[in-house]
Amino acid sequence: MDLTELYEKGEEKLRQRDIGITLGAVETGFILRHDRQVLDRYTFRQQCIDGPEASTGCRVLGTDLETPVIMSAMTMPIPAIMENGLLEVALALKEAGSLMWTGTPIPKDLKEISETGVPLAANVKPFEDRQKIFQGIEQILDAGARWVGIEIDAGQGTKVGDRIVASGCAPLSSRELKEIRNAVPVPLIFKGVLSAADARKSLDAGADGIVISNHGAHTLDYLPHPLQVMDEILSVVKGKMLVIVDGGFRRGSDVLKGLAFGACLVGLGRPILYGLSAAGREGVKGVVQGITAELKRIMTMVGVPGVDQVSQDILIKE
Ligand SMILES: Cc1cc2nc3c(=O)[nH]c(=O)nc-3n(C[C@H](O)[C@H](O)[C@H](O)COP(=O)(O)O)c2cc1C
Repeated sequence: MDLTELYEKGEEKLRQRDIGITLGAVETGFILRHDRQVLDRYTFRQQCIDGPEASTGCRVLGTDLETPVIMSAMTMPIPAIMENGLLEVALALKEAGSLMWTGTPIPKDLKEISETGVPLAANVKPFEDRQKIFQGIEQILDAGARWVGIEIDAGQGTKVGDRIVASGCAPLSSRELKEIRNAVPVPLIFKGVLSAADARKSLDAGADGIVISNHGAHTLDYLPHPLQVMDEILSVVKGKMLVIVDGGFRRGSDVLKGLAFGACLVGLGRPILYGLSAAGREGVKGVVQGITAELKRIMTMVGVPGVDQVSQDILIKE
């Protein structure tokens, strides 16, 4: 199945099985419409003469990947889509040379997932009961995950439509983030940075990286698409920490725009669910490999030999 088929079939099956709620957006649904509009504002400057064939391989925080296209943090609703779904996703991502990122709840079988050999990161929410944060971190470290993520943007929980789907969270202070930093001996990534101010605080707290993200429209309504705030954020953190972006990225062309704005890695949320729902492990692999093949093809034709050599020069703003 090609990308279009995987997306269409996967989404249709999720909606039929009533798992579609998780694909929705907070309150008015503005973000999902707007994410696409922002990504569509840029076209490519073709520069095909003297260009070698591009490579999509990269090394980030000591981890080698065959693609900058990774899974964004998610646990639910993967086990509801497929029994052993998380393990199937892990194997698919390993075969695609990508990275897996789990979300809430921290999977009970995180160790088994890690033992597949997939490069693994895992998130924890800013639980009101702060002890639960540290217990979560311990569980993640015990499982052997390479990176720990903390959802700094989930201080008011998450919401789909009018329904709060994750409650019991509270915003973290700079002091608390430093305490968390001290408890994490592996790379620590702050998820949900959307301003230069939070980027500065992430740097000051000692984070190794940030995910520039509107949380796939599951936190606040009327948040910007990450591309709109990347320049202000990169002016603070460029060259100082790992920058990851997610939100609405669906094709190789979208991913290249994320890289052009300064991201090292681009995350996929819903596309992973579509791939799994459409065709299991092969479907997830098909999504990541399909997007990576598109990315490589476009990189070659816009004169970008490697993912760390992309700049905004390749883009023309509509
Ligand atoms: C069903 C679903 C569950 C999610 N669960 C989490 C989670 O537990 N933790 C988290 O940090 N982000 C979570 N996210 C947000 C994703 O990590 C990611 O930021 C977002 O989906 C990216 O946008 P995209 O779906 O348009 O690719 C979830 C997203 C979806 C669609």
